[in-house]
Amino acid sequence: MTDLQARPVPDIVTALPGPKARAHIEFDHAWTSPSLPRAYPLVPVRGLGCAIEDIDGNVFLDFAAGIAVNSTGHSHPDVVAAIQRQAAELQHFSASDFYLPIYAQAAAELARIAPMRGKTKVFIGNSGAEAVEAGLKLARYHTRRQNVIAFLGAFHGRTMGAVSLTASKAKYHAHFGPMLPGVYHVPYGLAGLAEIEERIFKRLVPADEFAAVIVEPIQGEGGYVVPEPEFLPRLRELCDGHGILLIADEVQSGAGRTGKMWAIQHWDVEPDILLTAKGIGSGMPVGAMIAKEAVMSWGAGAHGSTYGGNPVALAALLETIRLLEGGLIANAAIRGREIMDGLRPLTERYPGLVRDVRGKGLMIGVEFDSGETAEAVQMQAFGRGLLVLEAGDTCVRMSPPLVVSQAEAATAVRLFAESVAHVAAHRERDLDEAQTAIRSGLAGDGFGASGR
Ligand SMILES: Cc1ncc(COP(=O)(O)O)c(C=O)c1O
Repeated sequence: MTDLQARPVPDIVTALPGPKARAHIEFDHAWTSPSLPRAYPLVPVRGLGCAIEDIDGNVFLDFAAGIAVNSTGHSHPDVVAAIQRQAAELQHFSASDFYLPIYAQAAAELARIAPMRGKTKVFIGNSGAEAVEAGLKLARYHTRRQNVIAFLGAFHGRTMGAVSLTASKAKYHAHFGPMLPGVYHVPYGLAGLAEIEERIFKRLVPADEFAAVIVEPIQGEGGYVVPEPEFLPRLRELCDGHGILLIADEVQSGAGRTGKMWAIQHWDVEPDILLTAKGIGSGMPVGAMIAKEAVMSWGAGAHGSTYGGNPVALAALLETIRLLEGGLIANAAIRGREIMDGLRPLTERYPGLVRDVRGKGLMIGVEFDSGETAEAVQMQAFGRGLLVLEAGDTCVRMSPPLVVSQAEAATAVRLFAESVAHVAAHRERDLDEAQTAIRSGLAGDGFGASGR
């Protein structure tokens, strides 16, 4: 192990993957579930800020952040200290059955930062999918209605309820059916609103039989899609008109990533239920459902979790919120603008190949002409020591830790531009290399680290 702090970032010292990484990948394939769709052959062992060291001592600049999770950077000293303090005091006591103080404290903090004006209450679980399940159950319970609308391209998780809402890749549903009944998918954006009114409410199921609409204010796995400016305000109106709850899934877009605490705040829209996970715990397993008090109408025993609101995870969450409000959200806005400004010229430099550069704050997507090109660019970036991740069909996302510095942002833009230039100049060879990595089991086939 080397002292990460003293290393340049990135610093690639072996061929990739290195010998230890190759050996480890073989070991991994022998024992782990083949359902895990690894993006490329990275074997991380240590992290600090935006730097990740692999098993061979290669140092990477991490612009993937564990799929938009390591919001405060890897092993932020304040988060580490909070975790250590709490682990030494109390590691677990089921908050569903007893009055764990840090649970209520975390709930109060989440309620304080919620994008709703009135009082809210909070249920805490362990992951994004669990937050989605909680939201779905509460919406049905509160409205006594069964049906739910979700959007094509959406990713809400992989548990049975959440995967029924997910519609980013058909393979998530393959052989798992039947899905949860009563879920209707429409296109993301204004076209979807028209479809809800004209096709669903008019022809299929009356509006007053819908419990909720669940929406990502900016679609994540669907390809970092920013909707039209009128979409979310009009969706809010539509829900209000029919007594339907609006659930904002901010598992990926929240926790300061877009330059505001919650992405939905860019449109000044209040959800009835907000779901968070990923970045809110800096990598500790935690997710939460925040709901308007009037909506949180269920009684004791209706929902709970053994681990949900684990005290060590909540110590990380409280420290994360403090750091986000203490400057990281502001940094996300500034660095995001710099990175977008740096990437935008790529659309003019490579017309046809680079189709779009979009996003808000540090939720940035670059759209290519094809999934194969996106795959090749991702692999070229990896070879240069820059970790990025595909999203959607043809997009590569940048979702770095919110601690990213100006110099790191500039390095990432430079390495990404070099990767695109290489693919533009050697397209056939680069595409072939990326496809060879997929065939040899070293990379996933175009769906990012989480196979989406
Ligand atoms: C918007 C969104 N919702 C839910 C989830 C599921 O979260 P988890 O993987 O923690 O279950 C994800 C994960 O990528 C997500 O992006």
